[in-house]
Parts: sequence; structure tokens; C-alpha cells
Amino acid sequence: MRLIVFFSNQVSEGMSVVAKEMAEQSLDAQIRLMQTGDRLQHLIYTQQLTRGLLDTIFDTADKARNLNASRMGATFLKECLPNQRALLYFMQPSTRTFLSFHSAASLLGMSCVHITSPGSSSEVKGESPLDSVQTFAMYNDLLVIRHPEADFAAKCVERLMQSEVSKHIISAGSGMEQHPTQGILDVYTLQREFSRKGGVDGRRVLIVGDLARGRAARAFIYLLALYQDVQIDLASPESMKITDDLREYLERRNVTFRESDFMDDFIGEADAIYMTRIQDEYDDKFPVGDVDYDLYSLSRDRLSMMKGNCSILHPLPRRKEIPVFVDRDPRSRYWEQVENGMWARVALIAHILNCDLRIRTA
Ligand code: NCD
Repeated sequence: MRLIVFFSNQVSEGMSVVAKEMAEQSLDAQIRLMQTGDRLQHLIYTQQLTRGLLDTIFDTADKARNLNASRMGATFLKECLPNQRALLYFMQPSTRTFLSFHSAASLLGMSCVHITSPGSSSEVKGESPLDSVQTFAMYNDLLVIRHPEADFAAKCVERLMQSEVSKHIISAGSGMEQHPTQGILDVYTLQREFSRKGGVDGRRVLIVGDLARGRAARAFIYLLALYQDVQIDLASPESMKITDDLREYLERRNVTFRESDFMDDFIGEADAIYMTRIQDEYDDKFPVGDVDYDLYSLSRDRLSMMKGNCSILHPLPRRKEIPVFVDRDPRSRYWEQVENGMWARVALIAHILNCDLRIRTA
């Protein structure tokens, strides 16, 4: 699984040159087609992000956050994209991703509408989802798409290219595979955490739980691999280990990583721990058998095994892997992640819609 064969790979008469190229290309080539110079036009794959781009996004996010603290700055932000429209098309449940994109678009002055069930669009009358998306793109400048199918957002990009509709798409979660904006906000949180202590380079990060089906964990791993000398420890039951494509990605990049069935093997050495929820919504498609999730949960004993300055992250929603009492532990950072997510998305939208330089130089 997981070798992403982009798009439909169907070339037909009447396709534009770019759309034809898209349909025929490898992942690397597709990634090139989804950007103009250094600027992303769409964000579908976490692999589109580079270290340089992340640093720029984090600068923009910090700057936007500071600007918004004053009335004048907030008005400046609101004037960045006043005539632009965003549509959130969410075909899987969401709390933080949905609300933070909604807030991010509003902070930049965009208007924002949403469709959160196929029953509320013409899909219920039998319209194909891609026809719906093409229609959305005619009324909106930016489509933010969350969908259970791993390649749906990519197919939407292909459709827009075929139809020569030059609007933008951001994946807000694509099946088990991709969640690039969650990865951005997770690394942004680490970067803020370590900014006065030498940065993310050289850190040891432990990632725990459902690593086979968790798109958030996957995105985080892809992005950690962009940092120098980061060491990644992975703790999960056998049935939830990272998939071969990700293992090969880490090996190709010479990233040092270790795997174990037990988080206790690594917990004492970690500078940051990223906990994840069991992704049981995928049980039918990707069964994992019975698992004792207490082995992948934080307890008082495990908190006492952690370094005093280790940060605890979680993409949320959490279940019992982080009991509520951990919120009072000074090392917990998952509520900060929630806020950072909004600023990271402000910065990403500003990058894609080309007003980020204005924000950074304000
Ligand atoms: C994640 C997701 O949807 O993949 N949540 C989120 O976007 N904050 C993680 C999860 O649901 O476990």
C-alpha cells in the first residue's frame, strides 16, 4: 500500500497540456506541477514541504499572531484577502481542523462557507463529487478538503487543471495517508518550544500509538525528517507499525529511527513525545486486531519516567492515551497545538494566496 500513484493516470483528448502532464507523472513531477516557482498552488502531500518553506511559514505565523494582538494589526490582517472566498468541504468529522481553517480564513478577511455532508449538496441528486468540486471552485478561490479517500484531494487538483480553473486546494486530511497542515502545526509547536534552546535539529522525538493508520503521525514523521540529526523513536503494537513506504522514506533520508512495541523503552530519552489515538474508524478497511492500548497511554508512572523538560504533544482528539490529569503537567503542549494550528493555517493560506510577504514585512 501507499505508493501514491497520483491522479487517475488517464490521459484523454481535449486535456490541457498541464493536465496531461499531471495525469502521467510521478509524485515528484506532480509536486513540481503543483507549485509556481517556490510558491505552492495547492498543498496535498506533506512531501511538498521543504525545510525552507516551513521556516518561512513559521515566520509568517509568528508575525500574524503578533499583528493580531493590536487592533491596527488585526485590521491590517483583515485587509490581506478581502475579496477572496474559501470553501471548507469536509466529508469526515473534524473539530479543530475545521474551526481553525474557518478562523484563519476570517482573520485574513476571506469569506468562508462550508459543506459538511454529501446530503447538503447536489451529490444527493447523483452529481459526482468531482463535478461538485469543480462547481465549488467556480465560486471560491480556495477549497479546503477533508475526505476519507486518500487520493480524493489529488484528483480534485487534477480536475481543476483539466478544466483550467486556477483555484487552490489544501488537503485537511486525506484518508489514512496525508494530513499536511497537521504536520505543519505540530512541527511549528516544537519549533516554538525549542526556539530558545537550539531549535528542533538534533532532538529525540518519540511517537506513540497507531502509526499505521494515523495520518497525523505520518505527516509529523515526514516533516521531522527535514531536520538535521533528528532521532525518531516509534512505539506501537506490531499491527500498527509504520508502513513500508514511510520506513523507506526515512532510510532514504538517512534518518536515525528505532522501533519498539513498548514506549517504556524510549520514554526516558525523549525531548518530545507525540501521543496518538487509535484510528478505529478504519477497522473495516484495515483491521489491527485486539490491542492493549494502556501500553500506549500516559500514566503517572510514565510521567515520572520522562525528562523534566520533555514536551507532550497530541493532534487531538484524545481518548484514554492522555488522561485529563496530564493537562496540569507543565510539559503538556497539546492545547498550545490547537492555537498554533490556527496561526500555521493563516500562514499557509497567506503563502498559497500570495500575501505572506506583506504580512512578514508589515
Ligand atoms: C487528526 C486527524 O483527523 O487525522 N485530528 C486532527 O486533525 N486534529 C488525528 C485524529 O483524528 O486522531
